[in-house]
Amino acid sequence: MADTATDELKTLEVQAMEELKACADEATLRAWNTKYFGDKGLIKAALGKLGTIAKDQRAAYGQEANRVKVALTAAYDTALAEAKETALQASLTANPLDVSLPGRGRPRGRLHPATQILRQIYTIFADLGFQVYRTREVETDELNFEFLNMPAHHPARDMWDTFFTTTPGVVLRTHTSPGQIHVMREAAGKPIRVILPGMCYRNEAISTRSEIQFYQVEGLVIGEGVTMADLKGTITAFARRMFGPERQVRIRSSYFPFTEPSIEVDIDWPADDPNRDRLTKGTGWLEILGAGMVHPNVLRAGGYDPDKVTGFAFGMGPQRMLMLKHAIDDIRLFWQNDLRFLRQF
Ligand code: PHE
Repeated sequence: MADTATDELKTLEVQAMEELKACADEATLRAWNTKYFGDKGLIKAALGKLGTIAKDQRAAYGQEANRVKVALTAAYDTALAEAKETALQASLTANPLDVSLPGRGRPRGRLHPATQILRQIYTIFADLGFQVYRTREVETDELNFEFLNMPAHHPARDMWDTFFTTTPGVVLRTHTSPGQIHVMREAAGKPIRVILPGMCYRNEAISTRSEIQFYQVEGLVIGEGVTMADLKGTITAFARRMFGPERQVRIRSSYFPFTEPSIEVDIDWPADDPNRDRLTKGTGWLEILGAGMVHPNVLRAGGYDPDKVTGFAFGMGPQRMLMLKHAIDDIRLFWQNDLRFLRQF
């Protein structure tokens, strides 16, 4: 009985090996595997017979069954690996990979022109020792106007067409100047030398010259003995780095409620630029920013003592500067997302 059973194992092995050799591909190999090693497979059945074998033969039968199982498993693994390799080679020969095809390029993005000019401005002012300080775009009426020396009903408020929110006393900032108050309160009496870049909003009819949102870069310097000469020197250094080392700077008297005295700064426009007459309306001079010495009331609102310190502030429109540099004649192009425009920068 035991001998017969062991013989049966041998026969099974021979039969399985022959069938394995006849398998032509992965699919037939897998079918073979199910036939012998599946849940209802022949090997499982042979192992299951163990209990019916006479006790003294059981160990020998078990050993033999195990040997057959191991041998068949190894043969199957080898055959399967070979079949996969053969299939791969066949597919590589049948559909050769054309490595000479050009790769698929990834389109490279670029920085928005407004971001580019902002970064240029940061670099210039960083070289002059200015830190960048960011403040909020939604402001209280107090910060946007009142602490900047414009109490309610002050006629100077007409200079800024404001967006009001549904919360009383909360507006979209019309300029970066409220940032002056934020910096002063945080610096708490220490000297200040910062620029405050950011988006501003005005409730204007949109045209080639005005948008409802635009960038500004504010500058603020406070300390003992800061004078108009420092303001002039800073602006001149900036203008020459931005617009060319030959630039001349002209200062005109002006008015802002939060500076006293207030000025507007012009630069001379290169004589060889064909756009010169159009840009400067024939004068040769172009306004680039507003500025002045910080008003004592503003210093006080920021917690500084106007008897001890003085300061200057300026505000410029970086998009306007970009328009000047590249003769862009429509400010609306900035936020229209037209790639034909953006790709030029
Ligand atoms: N805030 C002013 C404006 O938006 C510009 C400015 C800033 C003027 C700082 C003087 C000093 O028009």
